[in-house]
This record gives sequence, C-alpha cells and structure tokens, in this order.
Amino acid sequence: MLANKVGKQLRHPTYSLTGWLVSKFFKWHNQILEENAVKLCNIQPNDTVLELGHGPGFGLQAAAQLLTAPEGKLLGVDYSQYMHEMASQRMKEQISRGKAVLYCSDLVAMPIEENTVDKVFHCNCYYFWPDLKAGARAIHRVMKPGGNMVTTLRLDSVIKAAKLKVLTGDKWRPDVYMEALQSAGFTDVRMENKREKLTTLQAIFATAVK
Ligand SMILES: C[S@@+](CC[C@H](N)C(=O)[O-])C[C@H]1O[C@@H](n2cnc3c(N)ncnc32)[C@H](O)[C@@H]1O
Repeated sequence: MLANKVGKQLRHPTYSLTGWLVSKFFKWHNQILEENAVKLCNIQPNDTVLELGHGPGFGLQAAAQLLTAPEGKLLGVDYSQYMHEMASQRMKEQISRGKAVLYCSDLVAMPIEENTVDKVFHCNCYYFWPDLKAGARAIHRVMKPGGNMVTTLRLDSVIKAAKLKVLTGDKWRPDVYMEALQSAGFTDVRMENKREKLTTLQAIFATAVK
C-alpha cells in the first residue's frame, strides 16, 4: 500500500504531501546523479541539450551553466505538472531569455523536432516508462546523428526499490533498457560504474546512429 503510493509519486509527482516529500527526496538522494549525468555528457557551450524527467530541475540548472555560447540551448521534458512548474520556477531567468524551454509532456509525445539535439540525459527515469522501446525510439528521433545520451542511476537503491515493490516488473533492469536502446538504433551502449565521494553510481551511455 505505502510502496504503491510512493512508487506512484516517484513515477508522476502530484501536488500532495507525498509529492512534496518526494521532491525533497529528489534533492537529497538524486542531486549527485543529476550532476554526474551533466558532467558525463561532455556538454559543449553551443550544444542543444535535453533532460527527460527533470523533476525539480537540479540537472537543468547544472547544464545551463555550461551552455555559455549564444547558440547553446537547454530543453526539458517532464509530464508532471507539479515538477514542470517547480523546474520552471527554478529556471525562470533562463526561460525568460529564451535559453531554456521546458515542456510539460510525455516523452513519447515531446514536441521537439527530429535530429535537433546533441546531448540527452536523464536520471532515475526510465524505470517508470510504460514502454522502454517506445521511450528509446522517442529519444533517438530527436537526436542528431552521433549525439550522445547518458543516464545515471544508483543500482543498489534501484534493486532495493524493486525488492520493496516500489518498482515493479523488470523494466528497472539496466540490461533491459540497454537492449531497448540498441533496438532503437543506438550504438556503443554500455554501463560503467562511477565513484563520487562516498557514493558509487552507474552511468549508461549510448550514441545515436542514423
Ligand atoms: C523519480 S523522478 C526523477 C526526477 C529527477 N530526474 C531526479 O533524479 O531527481 C522521475 C521523473 O520523471 C518524470 N517522468 C516519468 N515518466 C515520464 C514520461 N513518460 N514522460 C515524461 N516525464 C516522465 C516524472 O514526472 C518525474 O518527475
């Protein structure tokens, strides 16, 4: 019952006490994942960068600092109205300058033109997508040929969440997601362990081939 409630809020945070608590958890537990995903993306000043499932927007904030050239652009997609508004507030200065655009949308329907994005990152997100192959295809569609995607996770926490039934099915398994990426047209799909201070995290990398 509780696991189900928490799982629902992690998947799609809403305006509620549990939704608010979950947003605090994102900062406490996940900021390190967001910062590492940004670091591992190798963002160049004039890139177009997209974050999927950005939640409160800590990763967007970190990525924006690297997009220093006038052409550099930041895009964000999250289907939670609550998270969209929280991140829009955090990024209001960049949005007002036209440097960042956030969409409240399911990622499979994101209103982003094909072949326009250099780097995509997401953290703690893919396990909530109903169809991993459709999600991977949606990412591949918007990416430029040769563009790079990075996702970060803490596999130990994810395994615990699966044991507690906060995550159900087997979509949380990195190998299942990596297979979906390959079938969508990504190459050089691999997972690496990374160490940040006292935390071990995992990063999945993929390159879009077209
Ligand atoms: C567990 S939260 C992670 C938030 C943030 N990335 C972090 O690590 O703190 C998952 C986020 O992905 C969003 N999300 C899940 N499935 C999505 C989908 N199909 N399309 C768009 N956003 C999605 C949720 O609304 C939520 O904000």
